[in-house]
Amino acid sequence: MDQNTVQDRPRADADSDRQDVEGIATPLVAPTLPLQGGKNSASPNNGIARSFTRKGELLSRKLSRLAEEVWAPEQTKQLRPFQTQEVAALLGVTERYVRQMANELEIPKADAKPVGRRVWTLDEISRLRIHLDAKSPGRYLPHRREGEHIQVLNFATFKGGSGKSTQAVHAAQYFALRGYRVLAIDLDPQASLTTMLGVTPELHVGPQESLFGAISFQDDGDPTKLGEGRGPRPMREVIRQTYFTGLDLVPASLELAEFETESPRALMLRHPSPFFTRISSAIDQVADDYDIVVLDSPPQLGFITMAGLYASTGLVVTVHPQMIDVASMAQFMTLAGSLMEVLEGQGGRTVPLDFEKILVTRHTPSDQPQMAVVTFLRSLFRTDVLTATMVNSTAVADCGLARQTLYEAVRDSSNKRTYDRALQSMDGVNAELEAEVLRVWHRTNHRAED
Ligand SMILES: Nc1ncnc2c1ncn2[C@@H]1O[C@H](COP(=O)(O)OP(=O)(O)O)[C@@H](O)[C@H]1O
Ligand SMILES: [Mg+2]
Repeated sequence: MDQNTVQDRPRADADSDRQDVEGIATPLVAPTLPLQGGKNSASPNNGIARSFTRKGELLSRKLSRLAEEVWAPEQTKQLRPFQTQEVAALLGVTERYVRQMANELEIPKADAKPVGRRVWTLDEISRLRIHLDAKSPGRYLPHRREGEHIQVLNFATFKGGSGKSTQAVHAAQYFALRGYRVLAIDLDPQASLTTMLGVTPELHVGPQESLFGAISFQDDGDPTKLGEGRGPRPMREVIRQTYFTGLDLVPASLELAEFETESPRALMLRHPSPFFTRISSAIDQVADDYDIVVLDSPPQLGFITMAGLYASTGLVVTVHPQMIDVASMAQFMTLAGSLMEVLEGQGGRTVPLDFEKILVTRHTPSDQPQMAVVTFLRSLFRTDVLTATMVNSTAVADCGLARQTLYEAVRDSSNKRTYDRALQSMDGVNAELEAEVLRVWHRTNHRAED
């Protein structure tokens, strides 16, 4: 939009502009934001500041109203029940055995409507899993054993919209469904992962309740007193359980962006625990409680992203198979590589990644140019490109709108085929990641795919 037009615009125009935005959406009325003229309005900076603030607020308000229509933020998110067939597949036993165990455990029967068949909550599935594992120890509960280190899987790349958050939330749920103890940590102040897991940052995440609470410098016992607060909180205090049994969350909120301003200051003051160690130290505090940590990185290479990379054991770089996205991935790798080298030179340890994978996302296999890009990537990076790709699917996009994952959505007859295809693709990707984890743990008796 032309800047001069904005800064000189009289109030009536501003109102008609508001009407335009509202016209696209719903008749909900957003409050008129004051627009004053005056001598400051001659300054181009003031023009942008005022215009962007006003439009940003208007859009945010409107978007959250729209989101509320699909999913009210104060509504507690609940997981759908699972069919006996799904339970049997998850546990790797027959449906009959599932029912038999339920009788042994005296799990009360809950019926699906309208069919009247028995259904199961994830909590009940978890009880069945524990029961099975007691009979054959180590076979059904895949928890870490002696000598197996925690796996920190980081979904990262520059490019927004490459599917980081989508893949991160699905990976976290996939592992939880299979009985791993999972902690999802949202590193992105935009908080997509947080939102997908039923937590609305503006409503449910107070000050110091995001990851920032546990990694912020504050005064931290350091004489240089970097901040005003009481020091970082123990990681345990910012972890919350989700509606998804076995999956805990450290949410993000806008305050996380403060890490980007605190970190350079702490570096200048030679803080004893520099920015890049802070996420890994926070994870160390709770590592005994988890098998898998999933990190969802923001789409830039700032201090949080670097600290996330430093904490990772496995890296998943998501890429949409288009040349422009591949070029962006190349920049990300080059820049991240050289920055990590600087950190290592500054007394950080070498980050020993257990694996590093490129994941092709939003893939349309029948698209010739995309096929060429995938072939190009495979010829360059061979086994570092996951064999499975995540297909581009309206099922993913639709689920995203309803703040649901493929693992949560209820299949109905209208979307069954699309949904099943997307689910199969997502499972294929996650099964490969699980196989990587199990390979790192030297497990031989695993079932990578149920
Ligand atoms: N496989 C897919 N098929 C269709 N849409 C997808 C797929 N993966 C992601 N999306 C959509 O693309 C958008 C961006 O995805 P997201 O995971 O938020 O990317 P990022 O975290 O890299 O910015 C979201 O609206 C999401 O629903
Ligand atoms: Mg994201």
